[in-house]
Amino acid sequence: VTEPDLKGRHVVVSAGGTREPLDPVRFLGNRSSGKQGYALARTAAARGARVTLVAANSALPDPAGVDVVPVGTAVQLREAVLKASADADAVVMAAAVADFRPAVYAAGKIKKKDDQEPEPITLVRNPDILAAISADRVRPGQVIVGFAAETDDVLANGRAKLKRKGCDLLVVNEVGESRTFGSEENEAVVLGADGSETAVPHGPKEALAETVWDLVAERLR
Ligand code: PMT
Repeated sequence: VTEPDLKGRHVVVSAGGTREPLDPVRFLGNRSSGKQGYALARTAAARGARVTLVAANSALPDPAGVDVVPVGTAVQLREAVLKASADADAVVMAAAVADFRPAVYAAGKIKKKDDQEPEPITLVRNPDILAAISADRVRPGQVIVGFAAETDDVLANGRAKLKRKGCDLLVVNEVGESRTFGSEENEAVVLGADGSETAVPHGPKEALAETVWDLVAERLR
C-alpha cells in the first residue's frame, strides 16, 4: 500500500533525452529512453502528487493521471520546466539534457559534396536548467533534485556536480552504452546538500524513484 505522502503537492519531473537539430533530418542526441523519469512520475502520482512530466523524445506511453508536456530540444525543455515549476513543491531533473547544440541550423538537408572533406560542426552552450532553478528558487522550501550520469570517478564527479549545480539532492548513477540507459533497472547513490549519502542497490527504476520521493517528502515536511 502506497502512502499518499505527496497529496496536495505539485511535482515536476523531466525525462528522456534532448535532441539538438543540425538540419531537418539530423540531430545530436543521447541514449536516454525516459524510463527513469517515467518511473519517477508514476510513483509520485501513486503517492498522491499532481505530476507534470516534461518528456523529451521518449517513446513510452503517457502514464495515467500525469500531465505530460512533450519537448524536443534543451531550450524547449527549459521553457517547459520553468513554466511548470512556478508553483511546484519539487522539481526532479531526470532528463539527459544536451550541454551543447549546433551553432547553426541548416534550413535544408546538409548535402555531402564529392571530393570534399566534411565540414566541422560548431557547437554553442545550452542553458543549464538545473543550476538556474537551484539558484533562483521561485518558492521558498522548493526541493530540487538533479541526476548525474557518470562513466568514471562516479562518486567524486557526483560530489563536485552537487556543489556546482546547487540542488538539494543529486542522484548519481553510472551509465554506459548499455548500462542504465534504456534498461529496466538502475543503481545509485543519492547525495544530499546536507552531506547525507543514500545508497540504492541494483533494482527496478521504480525502487530508486521511491527512495527519491522518500527523501523529497522528508525535506518538504
Ligand atoms: O532515460 P533512461 O534510459 O531510463 O536513463 C536514465 C538516465 C541515465 C538518463 C538518468 O538516470 C540520468 O542520469 N539523467 C541525467 C542525465 C544527465 O544529463 O546527466 P548530466 O550529469 O549530464 O547532468 C546533470 C544534471 O543537470 C541532470 O539533472 C540534467 O538534467 C541537468 N542538466 C544538464 C545539462 C543542462 N544543460 N541542463 C540541465 O539541467
